[in-house]
Amino acid sequence: MRDDAHFVARCARGLEPQLAAEILEGELGSITRAGHRSVHFRAWRPYDTGVTALRTADDVFLLGARGREAGRTRSALRTMAELAAQANPEELLSHRNALAPHPTARPSGVEVSASFLGRRNFNRYDAEDAVGEALAARLGVPYHPRRTEGAPPPDYAAWRLTLDGTEATLMLRITPRPLHRRPYKQSTVPGSLHPPLAAAMTRLAAIGPGHTVLDPCCGAGTLLIEAALAHPEAGRYQGYDIDPTALAAAGTNKRTASLDHIRLHRADAGRLPLPDTTVDRIVCNPPWGTQVPPKARLAKAPTAWWQELRRVLTPTGTAVLLLPTPTPLAPAIQAGLLPTHTQRIHLSGTPTYLTKLEPKTP
Ligand SMILES: C[S@@+](CC[C@H](N)C(=O)[O-])C[C@H]1O[C@@H](n2cnc3c(N)ncnc32)[C@H](O)[C@@H]1O
Repeated sequence: MRDDAHFVARCARGLEPQLAAEILEGELGSITRAGHRSVHFRAWRPYDTGVTALRTADDVFLLGARGREAGRTRSALRTMAELAAQANPEELLSHRNALAPHPTARPSGVEVSASFLGRRNFNRYDAEDAVGEALAARLGVPYHPRRTEGAPPPDYAAWRLTLDGTEATLMLRITPRPLHRRPYKQSTVPGSLHPPLAAAMTRLAAIGPGHTVLDPCCGAGTLLIEAALAHPEAGRYQGYDIDPTALAAAGTNKRTASLDHIRLHRADAGRLPLPDTTVDRIVCNPPWGTQVPPKARLAKAPTAWWQELRRVLTPTGTAVLLLPTPTPLAPAIQAGLLPTHTQRIHLSGTPTYLTKLEPKTP
């Protein structure tokens, strides 16, 4: 058994602060660095399975080896193979197996996924091959090159290599599937949220005991499900959507998550069937992006959206929304909602804004 462990959690760009906060609040360890899409931490308890339950992380890894990047030319590939030589793959695999069950304790092969910031005179497949062949030789198992063979077999050990322009980091994935692939998400709709981003939004909403939580355009239900999983103590979860297909998807997902108490109904978010000042928390990514057009009253009278949010929120309520880049907030302020937090997030290269609004006090 090891008495020390270093982990790397990876996330969407911009969510590093929420991921670091989740690690600290879960008392999982001390943060040793936070950089582009990653938070490194030294575990307080090396075998604490809480690391596999991080909700704002895309994935979590055991740190294998870290070293300075040796330039941007192909000669750096040799240094990457040396990085693989510094890691102790047998020890890392037995630690991985103690943290999460796998199809086979002894992997039948090695696969590597590499990514880097900036340009190099080699591509990601060259870097993957350099590291993967070295690791496979040490373990005496085959290497699966992504360059030619697509998705790897499920019982292959998944390694990750990142090059950030200064350092190369080699790590071993702990769980058989990436953490962002939630088992409940059986059904999806266009524009459906990345679950770790939904988890970060619910953290920002600070849901508390007895709260009524609303998603007025719930789509496949990701936000309500992430909120209900993290906050079973809330009083009530309510989702609306104009589209019956979206409601069916949300229904499938909430049943898979065994969250039958989430209530779903068809309604126009521009005319919510709710009394005034009855909602404590709103979480939503409204249909204002390029993928999903607004319908009904949201299309005809967009300002009605802000008026409805303000009308249903309690005076101490909070709305956490994911908004596309050029969203003028003047209509929100005119409706009586003040932006109190904004944070830029990049998903698939597209910037969006995580925005928190609270009712103006008279
Ligand atoms: C970006 S999607 C929400 C995705 C959702 N957060 C998820 O994770 O699946 C926006 C949703 O708004 C819904 N919508 C469009 N116009 C609406 C309206 N007037 N009232 C309620 N829902 C509406 C769409 O049907 C769509 O499901």
